[in-house]
Amino acid sequence: MDKTILVTGGAGYIGSHTCVELLEAGYKVVVVDNLCNSKSDSLSRVEEMTGHNFQFHLADLRDMAAMQLLFKREKIDAVIHFAGLKAVGESTEIPLAYYQNNVGGTANLLEAMNEYGVKDIVFSSSCTVYGAPETLPLREDFPLQAVNPYGQTKLTIEYMLKDLAASDADWNISILRYFNPVGAHPSGEIGEDPLGIPSNLMPYITQVAIGELEELSVFGDDYDTPDGTCIRDYIHVVDLARGHLHALSKLEENPGLIIHNLGTGQGYSVLDVIKGFETATGKSIPHRIVGRRAGDAPAVYDDPTLAEKELGWKAELGIEAMCRDAWNWQQRNPKGY
Ligand code: NAD
Ligand code: UFG
Repeated sequence: MDKTILVTGGAGYIGSHTCVELLEAGYKVVVVDNLCNSKSDSLSRVEEMTGHNFQFHLADLRDMAAMQLLFKREKIDAVIHFAGLKAVGESTEIPLAYYQNNVGGTANLLEAMNEYGVKDIVFSSSCTVYGAPETLPLREDFPLQAVNPYGQTKLTIEYMLKDLAASDADWNISILRYFNPVGAHPSGEIGEDPLGIPSNLMPYITQVAIGELEELSVFGDDYDTPDGTCIRDYIHVVDLARGHLHALSKLEENPGLIIHNLGTGQGYSVLDVIKGFETATGKSIPHRIVGRRAGDAPAVYDDPTLAEKELGWKAELGIEAMCRDAWNWQQRNPKGY
């Protein structure tokens, strides 16, 4: 394999795991990241784990000159585009920063790709583009509706990519809508390293387990679900990373624009995840039911049929592996990188 993949946001949580899978599959990798939400240690760890070195460009996607220079210097065959801001709450406070970074950064990236004739891209979208779903499980052809600025940026980028594909048949674009990525590489060398107090469930749980945080607040137990807590489709980050390699292979068939959900199809409630974590790790998680968190949908889970049929990809790791690997990462790196 002598294909070179540019991984934007490669120092981040999902990007670093995808770099491992790419390098182990024989791809060459080039990473661009401005480290606004990550540390370069993740990249050193990827090199150590895989025994492969790669080029890292410390640059911002919003810097057009830097992007052009990157494409001039490196011979890129395809791009996996993770770089973006992702905190829903923050996006409601500083929406323009989200539009500038996510939409503006992506527009720059696509311009530079176009200029250098690189027209294969896999894009990180999110199941948040379905808004609060009325029908479950979620299929790719369901109506789209963003309910916060972060989701709007994902939706805007999806529309931008659709327009681009319609304008030029040379573009091959895979939009992947992730459900809830959790867990870490089983080696415990790389994992999720949120800045400050985590807002997502799994990193909050592991920080309670390690004693960094006192107890978990469960946001609401009066939803219309079997135990009253919200249901999500948690997916192991290694399964998710592998999904990108399947999408890349699919792009070689020149499919134009394709859209797939990446989830397991299995929903777990907040209480299920707590129990799953306690069973997988033997650690008990002190928790207390508090009021609902604004904006949470009662239940969100995937219909994984299309990704299996068209990409030949299916999630293999269950909730036990997700909890075990998240905990292994946290124990080996109590303060993150
Ligand atoms: P992350 O924050 O760990 O990684 C994103 C990386 O992009 C970071 O390393 C950050 O420094 C970099 N970055 C951000 N803006 C940049 C810019 N302008 N120029 C260069 N680098 C920049 O996030 P993640 O969890 O790995 O998510 C990756 C992608 O997947 C994001 O686009 C996110 O929106 C999407 N996604 C994530 C989740 C999730 O729950 N983690 C769910 C659905 C979709
Ligand atoms: N939860 C708690 N306590 C916490 C944190 C979360 O009870 O301290 C609950 C939430 O209320 C929700 C569930 O755990 O019911 C999952 O919450 P997360 O914050 O982990 O995940 P979300 O489903 O809210 O959203 C995440 C990302 C979004 C992304 C979405 C789908 O934050 O950006 O997954 O990928 F769009």
